[in-house]
Amino acid sequence: MWLSILVTILGYGGMFGAFTYIAFTLTDVSGFAASTVPWLLIVFGVGLFAGNTFGGKAADRNVDRTLVVVLSVLVVVLVGFALTAGYRSIDTAAIYGNEAGTGRAIAESGIDREELFITSKLWVADLGYDSTLAAFEASLDKLGLEHLDLYLIHWPAPATGLYLESWRALEHLLASGKARAIGVSNFLPEHLQKVIDLGGTVPAVNQIELHPALQQRDIADFNAAHGIATEAWSPLAQGAVLADPAVVEIAARHGVSPAQAILRWHLQRGRIIIPKSVTPQRIRENLDVFSFDLTADELTVIDGLERDGRTGPHPAEFNG
Ligand SMILES: NC(=O)c1ccc[n+]([C@@H]2O[C@H](COP(=O)([O-])OP(=O)(O)OC[C@H]3O[C@@H](n4cnc5c(N)ncnc54)[C@H](OP(=O)(O)O)[C@@H]3O)[C@@H](O)[C@H]2O)c1
Repeated sequence: MWLSILVTILGYGGMFGAFTYIAFTLTDVSGFAASTVPWLLIVFGVGLFAGNTFGGKAADRNVDRTLVVVLSVLVVVLVGFALTAGYRSIDTAAIYGNEAGTGRAIAESGIDREELFITSKLWVADLGYDSTLAAFEASLDKLGLEHLDLYLIHWPAPATGLYLESWRALEHLLASGKARAIGVSNFLPEHLQKVIDLGGTVPAVNQIELHPALQQRDIADFNAAHGIATEAWSPLAQGAVLADPAVVEIAARHGVSPAQAILRWHLQRGRIIIPKSVTPQRIRENLDVFSFDLTADELTVIDGLERDGRTGPHPAEFNG
């Protein structure tokens, strides 16, 4: 019983914190009037109350329900904020569970679809020809879109032996026009070579973990040699490289933040970047990286920060 009470208190405490956070976030979004906040919170509160009252008995379910509702609202708010701030490219994936919220934010933004570049990804559990086509339709449906600008195979999951089948399905989606471009993520050169050997479409993009502490030069070189764009996920190493003294010094020299210096390094090295933040000020900051240039020496200094600092799983070993 004491556990239930504790969990309930934590759940409602978290809910209160989330309300406060959302209120602050919303009022910081130029596209949202502060007067809409109370209404949103009322709708949110009624939804939660109804869910908790009629949805089940166990008090600890409050925490789960609260989290789900809070996260769904946050996705809509934060993607909406990013779009208002000027972002036009969004990277989502079936496994992130945020395609529906992303679609809502896109619809509410009023931005012309042709101005946007929406990427989603096929999860490992859906590898295989037919399951890929079904998963693509499910993603499209959640996003509320008629087409994707880029669809990626999320991981090769080599032990399943299914990524080539999925690639053929992606080629079908490309031919149908439902995917404007197709690519892969976390593919090593050995996986890419097998795709290329099929003799059809070469992936437009290979999205890989890439930041100063893990630069994956062998993969980036292979990508470049085959005309595949390298897209860096976790471009800030999830924050792990931001306190590096060399980065801090370079950033100070240009009057920018360490994150901006690293994002600029990626851009000058020719990579696509998809930094993530749930903090309005950082979302704006990460877009403001086009008004300064790092010198050749500064680029080389950041190149020198490699330390095999992988944060995610190794693609040769990860099978879902
Ligand atoms: N294909 C794949 O397998 C794969 C795997 C992982 C990620 N991804 C993609 O890559 C995107 C980014 O990756 P990620 O979130 O792992 O790592 P990231 O973008 O390198 O780092 C995100 C972290 O850095 C913080 N941050 C962001 N901007 C900052 C700034 N200006 N100053 C200080 N801190 C800052 C964020 O904090 P706050 O959020 O608290 O502000 C968050 O903790 C994901 O959203 C996803 O789309 C793809």
